[in-house]
Amino acid sequence: MNKQAQKIAIIGGTGLSTLDNVKILSSEEVKTLYGMPSAPISHAEISHVDSKNINQIVFLARHGVEHTIAPHKVNYRANIAALKQLNVTHIIAINAVGGIADNMLPGSLVIPDQIVDYTAQRINTFFDDGIGEVTHIDFSYPYNENLRQQIYHCAEQENIDIINGATYAVTEGPRLETASEIQRLKKDGCDIVGMTAMPEAALAREMEMDYASICVNANWAAGLSNDLISMDLIEANIVQGMQQVKQLLARLLTQSL
Ligand code: HPA
Repeated sequence: MNKQAQKIAIIGGTGLSTLDNVKILSSEEVKTLYGMPSAPISHAEISHVDSKNINQIVFLARHGVEHTIAPHKVNYRANIAALKQLNVTHIIAINAVGGIADNMLPGSLVIPDQIVDYTAQRINTFFDDGIGEVTHIDFSYPYNENLRQQIYHCAEQENIDIINGATYAVTEGPRLETASEIQRLKKDGCDIVGMTAMPEAALAREMEMDYASICVNANWAAGLSNDLISMDLIEANIVQGMQQVKQLLARLLTQSL
């Protein structure tokens, strides 16, 4: 059977607006039925680790190149539709999150395996207008397991500590949570909290692209430390984590996924 050639997209979040250790060949404005994606999409090629093949890579800055688009204002449908139009097969999403579980230390990396969606005001499907038939995607396991394990394996090879498995609570934002809201999320079984996993993960599933995420813990979630949470604190903690994300991606992007 003819397997579709793999094309890997990175959706960069807070702290990763460019792929600065990868040579960008071109950048493209992609129009979609849903409007324009958050930013022009960059194209790169990376040599495959053990063949003469070249891995096709694209990069999209979720919050725009200048980080001006808030999580609740991201046009998730345009972003995912644009990647589909470019024949992307695998998406690696990078997300900054707050830590809820005790092991989610600021600066640490985690590969989530579950999601609880608390957002309410986002357009969360491609299957609404003008569809031929109602379609309900299976979303029992929102992240692609093979891709998750490949990320973990590459992290091990790079000696990068990464937590394999966490439940990601997605809040609407842009404000951070109250301390009581975090206690509720904890009771609900959530380990990390962020604002960008949904509807992105579901839209990728609707478009039949494999999707997994690498999260960077930027802060203890509200009420879990003595510090109030500021953007400065978040940014400071993210810097260290994103260095490791870049190192991990440098290996991951040379693989067959
Ligand atoms: N809550 C929600 N989103 C976040 C946080 C947080 O504490 N930190 C980084 N993104």
